[in-house]
Amino acid sequence: MVKVLLVLIAYLSFLVVSGHAIDSPQYTVVHSQSDFQIRLYRQSSWMSATVHGTSFNKSTKDAFHRLYKYIHGANLNSSQFAITAPVLTSVTPSALGSEYTVRFFFSPKYEESPPQPYPELNLQFDKWRSHCVAVRVFPGFAKDDTISKEIKALETSLDDYLFGKSAVLEEKNSYTIAQYNASYHPTGRVNEVWLNISGLTAEGCPSYGGKY
Ligand SMILES: *[C@@H]1O[C@H](CO)[C@@H](O)[C@H](O)[C@H]1NC(C)=O
Ligand SMILES: *[C@@H]1O[C@H](CO)[C@@H](O)[C@H](O)[C@H]1NC(C)=O
Ligand SMILES: *[C@@H]1O[C@H](CO)[C@@H](O)[C@H](O)[C@H]1NC(C)=O
Ligand SMILES: *[C@@H]1O[C@H](CO)[C@@H](O)[C@H](O)[C@H]1NC(C)=O
Repeated sequence: MVKVLLVLIAYLSFLVVSGHAIDSPQYTVVHSQSDFQIRLYRQSSWMSATVHGTSFNKSTKDAFHRLYKYIHGANLNSSQFAITAPVLTSVTPSALGSEYTVRFFFSPKYEESPPQPYPELNLQFDKWRSHCVAVRVFPGFAKDDTISKEIKALETSLDDYLFGKSAVLEEKNSYTIAQYNASYHPTGRVNEVWLNISGLTAEGCPSYGGKY
């Protein structure tokens, strides 16, 4: 556990010290108010690892450890990847605990022929189509209790904003946490909670009719 934590810290701290151009998914802001934003993300590709668990930080660390190996050569091309941001954790509650899917953003440079992961890492390559995400920024450490507070606050903001509009919150039950900073930074941390939204026509959000 300590080793896995150090690996995550090493990765996230590299994000911070290497101040130059880190690849991130591209988006435009289509709506903004003080408590949340709606972003239209372009198509993006991600390498993902899923674990079943009950703790956000433990599950994120465990899944990230598998991605870390891939990024550092545990793939059939022995490719090493430049770091990217953010690291996402999508949480879907299930009967016992939750499914935690942690994602590493795949630079468009590689997405046409992503090197195959070692099979034992059990990773999946996900291509996301262009879509809208409601985003609430929160400081501090992303932990199970802070996360549930933030997600509720975002849902409340969206209830007001979406009232009378034909938009659809894509998944009522699952949400995504985006992390940008090294674990050792106690202050100045930036995290986000994301919820997929479709059908906000005036804002230019694609409508997928729930078919993902
Ligand atoms: C999760 O993080 C909190 C604080 O960052 C820590 O107190 C707790 O022990 C961690 N839990 C696990 C399972 O790592
Ligand atoms: C990985 O190797 C395969 C087969 O040799 C090759 O087709 C592919 O282009 C390589 N991908 C990268 C990103 O180097
Ligand atoms: C959000 O939208 C993307 C793009 O269509 C999709 O791949 C993803 O599964 C959706 N759900 C979550 C929780 O991110
Ligand atoms: C955390 O990440 C955000 C987004 O990349 C950045 O603006 C901020 O300066 C970082 N905070 C610290 C303490 O490095």
